[in-house]
Amino acid sequence: MCGIVAYLGHQEACPLIIKGLKRLEYRGYDSTGISVYNDEQLQIYKKAGKVAELEKTLKGKKIHSTIGIGHTRWATHGEPNDVNAHPHYSSNKKLSIIHNGIIENYSSLKKELEVKGYSFVSDTDTEVLITFIEDIKSHGISLESAVRQALATIEGAYAIVIMDEENPDQLIAARKGSPMVLGIGEGEFFIASDATPIVEYTDEVVYLNDEEIAVINRDEFKIIDIENIELDPYIQKVELELDEIEKGGYEHFMLKEIFEQPNSIADSMRGRLDAKNARLTLGGIREQADALAEANRIIIIACGTSWHSGLVAEYLFEEFCRIPVEVEYASEFRYRNPVINEGDVVIAISQSGETADTLAAIELAKSKGAIILGVVNVVGSSISRASHEGAYLHTGPEIGVASTKAFTGQLSVLTMIVLSVAQRKKTITESKFKELLQELESIPDKIKKVLDSNDKIEYISSLFKDAANFLYLGRGYNFPVALEGALKLKEISYIHAEGYPAAEMKHGPIALIDEEMPVVFIATRDSSYDKIVSNIQEVKARKGMVIAIVTEGDVLIPKMADHVIEVPRCDEALMPLISVIPLQLLSYHIAIMRGCNVDQPRNLAKSVTVE
Ligand code: F6R
Repeated sequence: MCGIVAYLGHQEACPLIIKGLKRLEYRGYDSTGISVYNDEQLQIYKKAGKVAELEKTLKGKKIHSTIGIGHTRWATHGEPNDVNAHPHYSSNKKLSIIHNGIIENYSSLKKELEVKGYSFVSDTDTEVLITFIEDIKSHGISLESAVRQALATIEGAYAIVIMDEENPDQLIAARKGSPMVLGIGEGEFFIASDATPIVEYTDEVVYLNDEEIAVINRDEFKIIDIENIELDPYIQKVELELDEIEKGGYEHFMLKEIFEQPNSIADSMRGRLDAKNARLTLGGIREQADALAEANRIIIIACGTSWHSGLVAEYLFEEFCRIPVEVEYASEFRYRNPVINEGDVVIAISQSGETADTLAAIELAKSKGAIILGVVNVVGSSISRASHEGAYLHTGPEIGVASTKAFTGQLSVLTMIVLSVAQRKKTITESKFKELLQELESIPDKIKKVLDSNDKIEYISSLFKDAANFLYLGRGYNFPVALEGALKLKEISYIHAEGYPAAEMKHGPIALIDEEMPVVFIATRDSSYDKIVSNIQEVKARKGMVIAIVTEGDVLIPKMADHVIEVPRCDEALMPLISVIPLQLLSYHIAIMRGCNVDQPRNLAKSVTVE
């Protein structure tokens, strides 16, 4: 949560930082601010609301600075208002700071500082941190040492960047538990929460590790650890193209990302899947390939949408590999005392690779001896680095807060992992293996066909946009899809929606059904088709409104349902890749018709780095 951008170089910092903040707005968007060195002093401009509000504040101001720090916030401490927005000054206004994360012991630190005579204008933990640094620095030591000492004392998570009025040629940045990338240009440096604000200027980056501090001067930088030991920076090339992070003619990132899925899924398979020769190669899982195939049990940990793809993977692993699987919410798993036995393998799924609960669950599992495989989208992210091995999604940056192409990317990669394990274990016949590879390869074209129904889905959306509740029902592989459909709708349209296994309807939710209740059935042709037909009849008998996702050519369900959306035929194990697409579009259109901001839904952030 929260996006940070900082710059030190020869360009005007202010417009560059504002542009970067816009790219990071998906990380949080309840307030925004910037600090620059102008007229020989530090100045802070900040505002509740989005970056556009800050731009209005800055209009007409004469700002000339080649150094600056900027922040877009997702509130943790203190309500999102102008005062609590970042950056924050130290009490003498000589230092300014931006911070992503939470300082857990801030209230005891605050009390100690108040006893010393410091006072605070905001409710934030960040202002306490910068005042603490000011206090240490006031004993005549350098900012670099003061930051180091302060960070050794505080508890919590942080990605911080600090500016000092007494040294406007230096930025100090540090991270623990919150992501941070340093971009190295020609005589200029960039710092950001991810590489998207940086790629326009340089492709050379250093991903900071936990408890590392970057000391950046105009002509050089160094990385030290909390013990003041200088480290060799590992400079990497980012392979992110500018057009990947722009809207490319679509009105919203979410729509762009939904329509990108034929390509993004093909990208996730590129170089891995060769259906013609029945070959599957996952270069990222080599050393642990035997451990995975021989696992007594697989534990999948994830949150939100990624947890839903984990549920699909559970069905796949059990069906094709005969390995028992448990799918855990990372936030529950980490606070239990989970039983992890020798031979257990943990698969962590995360789009951002930064979700704090998933990261903490990984650390816990690792400390108990588990092997960790990461299924992650963002290259170089914390989860990818904390995993022993893994497979990237390669679906490109996902900017819309509601996950779409990352979900199908996860399904694609998890299916490939399952099939390669099944082949290794010989729990799948060669002919079924080949058939599924061919099916997988045909998914992008099938998704294109579903996307052709966009107009029809838009029309159906217009009929249900004012509903107060929605129920999503599916069975087997389509049950996690029902959960995902409901999550998508509620997070962007603010309509209450629930996903259920269709058979469970009789055990409670059926009481909700009346003529006001739209029920979305994911009722494609599969082994539970007859059963779900009965469930549709049960809903119709109670006057519920049925929207059914059916396989093309289905003649039975269209006679019962109020509306049907057809999807192409496909093996049931791969159907979630297809059946989720109409649900993404349904949520998108309903949210747009209700006037919601689909790319930045209220209270949400793309990367949940708080616990
Ligand atoms: C929903 C959504 C969230 C994320 C969840 C985990 O559309 O995006 O539910 O799936 O916050 O995030 P990652 O996958 O980044 O760990």
